[in-house]
Amino acid sequence: MEQCQALEQIQTEFQVNTDHMHAIVKQFVQEMNKGLDHHGATVAMIPSFVSGRPTGQEKGQYLALDLGGTNLRVCQVALLGDGQYTLHQQKYVVSDQLKLGDMRHLCDFIADCVDDFISEHGDQHTTLDLGFTFSFPILQTSINSGELKQWTKGFACANAVGKDPAVLLQDAFHRKNLQVNIAAIVNDTVGTLMAHAYRHPETTMGVILGTGSNTCYYEDISQIKKDFNHGKTLSDEMVVNMEWGAFDCERRILPLTMYDNKMNRESVNVNEQLFEKMISGMYLGEIARNCMLYWIDRLVLFGGRSSPELNTQWRFETAYMSTIQADHSKDLAATKHVLEDIMDLPAGSTTLADRQLVQVICQSVGRRSARLAACGLAGILSHKNLVVGDNGQDDGSCLIAIDGSLFEFYPDFEKNMTEALVELFGEKMRSRVRFELSRDGSGLGASVIAMMASKLASQ
Ligand code: BGC
Repeated sequence: MEQCQALEQIQTEFQVNTDHMHAIVKQFVQEMNKGLDHHGATVAMIPSFVSGRPTGQEKGQYLALDLGGTNLRVCQVALLGDGQYTLHQQKYVVSDQLKLGDMRHLCDFIADCVDDFISEHGDQHTTLDLGFTFSFPILQTSINSGELKQWTKGFACANAVGKDPAVLLQDAFHRKNLQVNIAAIVNDTVGTLMAHAYRHPETTMGVILGTGSNTCYYEDISQIKKDFNHGKTLSDEMVVNMEWGAFDCERRILPLTMYDNKMNRESVNVNEQLFEKMISGMYLGEIARNCMLYWIDRLVLFGGRSSPELNTQWRFETAYMSTIQADHSKDLAATKHVLEDIMDLPAGSTTLADRQLVQVICQSVGRRSARLAACGLAGILSHKNLVVGDNGQDDGSCLIAIDGSLFEFYPDFEKNMTEALVELFGEKMRSRVRFELSRDGSGLGASVIAMMASKLASQ
């Protein structure tokens, strides 16, 4: 009986109804306009200095680096033209010590990894151009320079905020005598858009739904009212990195629950990135864990018992939620495995009703994430007039490239986003919007951008 009531309460707490979604979309469009209008807005709307669309005919050899997701990746990419390419890559683990230490140590570590990679795969005698995918808010001043606004996603290195990460890394390359030139600094969303556009030039947005979350899209340069020195561009459009994770840090419209508030309060960036914290993979597990603990403390879940694992911050991973949500077995065996074998609750101690409640918690947190992400996309679609507007005009379809483990692996994520768009704008959205998984943003995309940067420099 108590578990049934808990179940209902949880579903209600994590529900974002259609009216609320409309209100969020409206606010989102307003925040986008503020970000395009002036510097210092909550949703930063950062010009990426990437203008023009790739043709697929780009050619050349590039290095690419990816920092900001779960691992550091170093890639060597050969663009072959005709949308074809080859890519070799190596992953390196970035320890928590590096994530929270001095920026100089992080840069030296990255330089060591690049050195290691080049000795193994590369040509050590010619200078290589590198596209640096640095997936944090950089206020860009050119295609290969900018200032780190703040850290996100659990990184908090000292001596980096307010500085140019490209300069800091280039210095580390010099210290190691590496012949590598940082040709472009790239947000992962922009890399994702470019990687997809290399094969499908009609792609309009690049979205990350992974450890963190963010989106970029093509904006008319004339709509970017704030001052920025764009100089010569390849076209009259520019990709804008929205940094949407910061949306509603004022806490006016997002439906934060007590479980979100607890997670936020205990994070390294309190009251920042609140939209991202309700959407992305780094945080969903923690929200679900807080919810479980709440119901344990009310003696409604697991007979009131927890475990040291379940009591540990960040220990309940979003990947476990995927497993639990995908569990269709009669006795919820996979859920039992996560709870009893991984989270270390005593063997045989969870009842079927406990496991059902945990499944509902995961479903509710995951569904809310997809619906909120859809609100962000709906904001861009409205802003770009890509839904039928009040004037009844139909402005065509929209191809959206998405990367990230949440989109790729979380059950029903795409379906829930589509349903939310349909609720907002009607059935036509099913054919109007196409989501496609795009994996090589930080390798292929960063290389395409490095190539476009050298094209621009040579003009
Ligand atoms: C960063 C963005 C990035 C996103 C996805 C956020 O935390 O601020 O720059 O695009 O994560 O990786």
